[in-house]
Amino acid sequence: MVKICCIGAGYVGGPTMAVIALKCPSVEVAVVDISIPRINAWNSDQLPIYEPGLDDVVKQCRGKNLFFSTDVEKHVSEADIVFVSVNTPTKTRGLGAGKAADLTYWESAARMIADVSKSDKIVVEKSTVPVKTAEAIEKILTHNSKGINFQILSNPEFLAEGTAIQDLFKPDRVLIGGRETPEGLKAVKALKDVYAHWVPDERILTTNLWSAELSKLAANAFLAQRISSVNAMSALCEATGADVTQVSFAVGTDSRIGPKFLNASVGFGGSCFQKDILNLVYICECNGLPEVAEYWKQVIKINDYQKTRFVNRVVASMFNTVANKKVAILGFAFKKDTGDTRETPAIDVCKGLLGDKARLSIYDPQVTEDQIQRDLTMNKFDWDHPLHLQPMSPTTVKQVNVVWDAYEATKDAHAVCILTEWDEFKTLDFQKIYDNMQKPAFVFDGRNIINADKLREIGFIVYSIGKPLDAWLKDMPAGQKSNSTGGTPNTSRRPRGRPPGSKNKSKPPIIVTRDSPNALRAHVLEVSPGNDIVDNLAVYACRRSRGVCVLSGTGTIKNVTLRQPVAAPGGSVVTLHGQFKILFLSGTVLPPPVRRHVAILRKVRIQE
Ligand code: UDX
Ligand code: ADP
Repeated sequence: MVKICCIGAGYVGGPTMAVIALKCPSVEVAVVDISIPRINAWNSDQLPIYEPGLDDVVKQCRGKNLFFSTDVEKHVSEADIVFVSVNTPTKTRGLGAGKAADLTYWESAARMIADVSKSDKIVVEKSTVPVKTAEAIEKILTHNSKGINFQILSNPEFLAEGTAIQDLFKPDRVLIGGRETPEGLKAVKALKDVYAHWVPDERILTTNLWSAELSKLAANAFLAQRISSVNAMSALCEATGADVTQVSFAVGTDSRIGPKFLNASVGFGGSCFQKDILNLVYICECNGLPEVAEYWKQVIKINDYQKTRFVNRVVASMFNTVANKKVAILGFAFKKDTGDTRETPAIDVCKGLLGDKARLSIYDPQVTEDQIQRDLTMNKFDWDHPLHLQPMSPTTVKQVNVVWDAYEATKDAHAVCILTEWDEFKTLDFQKIYDNMQKPAFVFDGRNIINADKLREIGFIVYSIGKPLDAWLKDMPAGQKSNSTGGTPNTSRRPRGRPPGSKNKSKPPIIVTRDSPNALRAHVLEVSPGNDIVDNLAVYACRRSRGVCVLSGTGTIKNVTLRQPVAAPGGSVVTLHGQFKILFLSGTVLPPPVRRHVAILRKVRIQE
């Protein structure tokens, strides 16, 4: 009986081995990990990862030919084929920091294999590692081999989370790279025989070692590039009035391009895309190809830009401040049908909003409060280390509240940001949500999943990525020069109180007088006597503001009435900061001058 052992019971190792066990009853599969809680979870009814269909597969084979264990050395020493699927974080220090893969865990796994092995083994590289890692690992193994023959293979995984089981059942291709020596070819055949239990022969591709390793990085870079391309188009669509969904549909009908992976979004996330591209960039730099490195780096820069742009859109739309406003975040996972939050765009968006002092109420059907708090406090790239090496008790972010219901998250909120495309968000009762929100009520759809027209009918101000903008949003530029160094977008440090895109120089206070041309259409506001004292009343209106009135005060202002009602019907009062109230009329368009003035509202005074 062939024995397989997989080191690393993570997102890759767990599902892949479970499917191998299911499809190959004659093979014994052991999945080992140094993390005791993780192995305990694999042996329980509550598996450590959420993946549709996984429970069934595990239940069918666990205890028969599929075992989860912490006895790493025993299972490695008994195995014929050892898969290595351990963490390969991006280095945060030293040579190649921020780009190169940290192979600490891989190296220690390789040394352990060499230590405990008593028979020949095929060692399969399963985690994404930079090209030529296999060569390094081969050296470690052969220099410590005690006469044992090790064959190194690269067998990159192409499964996507949320559809991992389907991807494993019906893969587009299985790629096996090995040495082109008789022993190498024999090892490739042995692994091919495992997959041949259920994968048609023509879908099992064999290549040399380096091609297999590079193909994995290249495939992920190409996929991420499509998303950055369509996201770049989404910014242009917003600026010009085109609709990105129509554009990507039209582009995708070209059979040379194809329709998949062309959905504009708030940005791509996941454990692979960014990391693999950073690896690719580093490899290019190391090989004296700075132009090629720069080309791929741009895919990440656009992704960071898209997240920053989204945050800026939210803040700019809400009078340039979200301070102390409740913002509901629907969805935190990096995509639907997974509880995985690695590199999720939600982290940068939330950090950006927190940087502007928003209060966040977050709901995701699969992500726990502990995970969200961890993600919002952890340093970049820290997630990619084994659990026991991650910060144990992260400090909690106080302005963040995690709830288990979308309605609770949105209650009394000023805005809703949809950051993951969970199906359940499409069928929410938005009328109920609207009724329980502060007005004006905003929806910022980072995944283009809601019916914007219907929501507008209800009364929401809606932003959908890459779609023609609401009148409200039109004059509020959300594009901002993204962080030129790449890496994390600089959202959390965006200066408050000035419109995104503007230069950082303070503007002189604006004095609006009754006679000033700007005040020609000013409407006088009155605070009813007997209510809270308003000692800092300011009124601003501008010729082009079409009825906008802005009122500021240091206390809570009630019963605001218009002495000279304007033509536009309705009107609502919203609280800003808890210190200001802005009265605006429905259908109001905020032209650039007003936006600018709203930002410096405190300095505006009426002079009699
Ligand atoms: C990816 C690759 O698809 C897979 O082959 C590889 O082995 C691992 O990396 P995964 O990270 O699970 O898989 O997710 P994927 O479905 O590729 O999505 C990645 C990110 O791109 C998600 O945040 C997703 O929301 C986003 N995305 C995807 C878009 O924004 N638009 C799209 O059109 C498609
Ligand atoms: P992936 O998404 O690539 O599967 P994960 O981080 O989910 O990555 O899984 C990697 C697993 O490898 C973790 O559970 C970690 O505890 C485990 N691991 C890391 N180093 C070792 C090692 N030397 N021996 C056994 N398990 C290891």
